Amino acid sequence: MTSLKTSGIELSYGEFKVLDGVTMEMSLAGLHGMIGPNGAGKSTLFSVLSGFLKQTAGKISFNDVAFESMSPVERATCGFGRTFQVPREFKHLTVRENLMVGARKQPGESLIKLLFAPTEVRRAEAEIGERVQGVLQFLKLAPVADKLAGGLSGGQKKLLELGRILMSDPKFILLDEPYAGVNPVLIEEISQRIKELNDTGIGFLIIEHNIEALNRLVDDLYVMDRGALLAHGNPEEVLENKAVRVAYMGS
Ligand SMILES: Nc1ncnc2c1ncn2[C@@H]1O[C@H](COP(=O)(O)OP(=O)(O)OP(=O)(O)O)[C@@H](O)[C@H]1O
Ligand SMILES: [Mg+2]
Repeated sequence: MTSLKTSGIELSYGEFKVLDGVTMEMSLAGLHGMIGPNGAGKSTLFSVLSGFLKQTAGKISFNDVAFESMSPVERATCGFGRTFQVPREFKHLTVRENLMVGARKQPGESLIKLLFAPTEVRRAEAEIGERVQGVLQFLKLAPVADKLAGGLSGGQKKLLELGRILMSDPKFILLDEPYAGVNPVLIEEISQRIKELNDTGIGFLIIEHNIEALNRLVDDLYVMDRGALLAHGNPEEVLENKAVRVAYMGS
């Protein structure tokens, strides 16, 4: 079984340990959830997994490939994608252009190829155009394809973030609060798309504060508290756990 594994991940800012020994192993085919109080270190863990922050100790492996010394782009090339808690769309580009930027290395970016292999460049561009169209339709963003991304609603921006990742052929995706600032109808819409992607074999680890919506979606739940994992398992059992109730809900 292919998996994402971490062992003893630590990250400190001076004296303050934001991550304090995170060890976990999850199937790359699954739908996994992650909850925890504000400041528990969830987004920081995502940044370490995706290579945007360097851990001070610990190991990460993805599909048995060591990730520690790889750049974010190299990790993405292995099929590892992540979205950000605050969407990072290019506000002054259209939705379609934002998706085109998400495509992996394009031959048209190389001057040599552009000069000496223009047919190859044209073919690759046509392929990317088709893939963009497919993603726009899948995410129901086709009606706003030529609108500036900065003008989208909160939910549409979250969908665009997901679309940008889909352009890079991911095997596993980290989603940081996909439902935050999203209306209930669009929350169901986003969940449905995640389920459909999972049916095609793409796995997810999803951070969310909307526990109800998250539980309808995931197979298992990780709880983080003060930089470490407090519990992991079946969502109903985890939420009954005394330590989780105290840490997360204060009762
Ligand atoms: N650059 C930094 N320097 C110092 N401390 C930081 C820095 N970035 C984050 N932190 C601290 O690290 C801790 C973990 O933050 P993180 O954003 O990972 O939490 P989170 O679990 O994602 O919270 P939330 O649910 O609110 O998004 C917080 O206490 C935060 O203040
Ligand atoms: Mg966060």
